[in-house]
Amino acid sequence: MSQQRLEKLRHKMEAQGMEAMLVSKRENIRYLSGFTAGSDALLLISLQDQYILTDSRYTEQAGRECPNWELILEKPPDRKALQHLSKKYKGIAFESQDLSYYEYLKLEDEIPSRLIPTLGMVEELRLIKEEGELELLRKAAVIGDKVFEKISSLIQVGISESHIANQVLYYLKDYGCEKESFDIISVSGPNAALPHGSPGSRLLQAGDMLTLDYGGFYQGYAGDMTRTVAIGKADPEFRDKYQAVLEAQINGINMVKAGESCSNIDKSVRNTLKKYGLEPFFIHGTGHGLGLEIHESPRVSSQSSEILEKNMLITIEPGIYIPGWGGIRIEDTVIVKDGGCEIITHSDKNLLIIDGGIK
Ligand code: GLY
Ligand code: MN
Repeated sequence: MSQQRLEKLRHKMEAQGMEAMLVSKRENIRYLSGFTAGSDALLLISLQDQYILTDSRYTEQAGRECPNWELILEKPPDRKALQHLSKKYKGIAFESQDLSYYEYLKLEDEIPSRLIPTLGMVEELRLIKEEGELELLRKAAVIGDKVFEKISSLIQVGISESHIANQVLYYLKDYGCEKESFDIISVSGPNAALPHGSPGSRLLQAGDMLTLDYGGFYQGYAGDMTRTVAIGKADPEFRDKYQAVLEAQINGINMVKAGESCSNIDKSVRNTLKKYGLEPFFIHGTGHGLGLEIHESPRVSSQSSEILEKNMLITIEPGIYIPGWGGIRIEDTVIVKDGGCEIITHSDKNLLIIDGGIK
């Protein structure tokens, strides 16, 4: 499978007159070669050759994961092997978004070839997911749902945000994820006004809102979902605002289909919130692509010029954040299809009031 991806990259390289390309971004290394320790590796790809450069800790792993790649052992900062291989190519493309300025200068000093910056060449290939990737993404979503069910049963008044986040992480891993796809968000009461707040020592109280936003990587592919629940009871204001965010979220999902523009979806979600006077509190984009990274293209925002295509994967996650009051976000992950989408996160979105030990 990775060989087909590599051939697609080679077509693009050829079309742009590139002889060779150095791939340094971890997720792109995994996508092209299958190597799962990309932070300690580089790929050097030409129209004929495919080298993986890593150090001796990974000899066995590279042999198992990338049998079609020629393994070159090299321990940074030594770049003698890369220097030697580079002699074959007049120009070598590199991933400009991934190399630091320091790394770039070092590379420029070390290798004889001209360095040619590129932007997002492999990411473009990753935009549309293959069936095998979709299966892994569905699995990550199913685990997210199972974790939500489990956590909902554990939430009690008096436990802290960070305790809940720890439990989320425990069950993500217990149900099969390697790790969390981003720092788990578990924010309660007024802290729910922080879209990306860190879970802290605040203890849950009756009448709180609690936003849980999390996901895990399953065989390298990210999950992402958000639910806001009420603890013990929900006052009328919270219920009304929750319904408004839910309406906006469902409206966004209903707009997802191949051919739809991302900015149009964002606009429509904002318009729903505007009806309720809540649009000023929606302070981020509607959603984002995900896959080997938690945030990928396409971006579902007002500035996006991207058009959805079949088998892209995006989140739809409107939220409102009101300082001193709290916040509400609802997020699902969906696969773009012709004429609609497949929702892969299935946890109930009707307002959940968790009994939480209050009888
Ligand atoms: N769901 C968290 C984020 O997308 O940033
Ligand atoms: Mn998200």
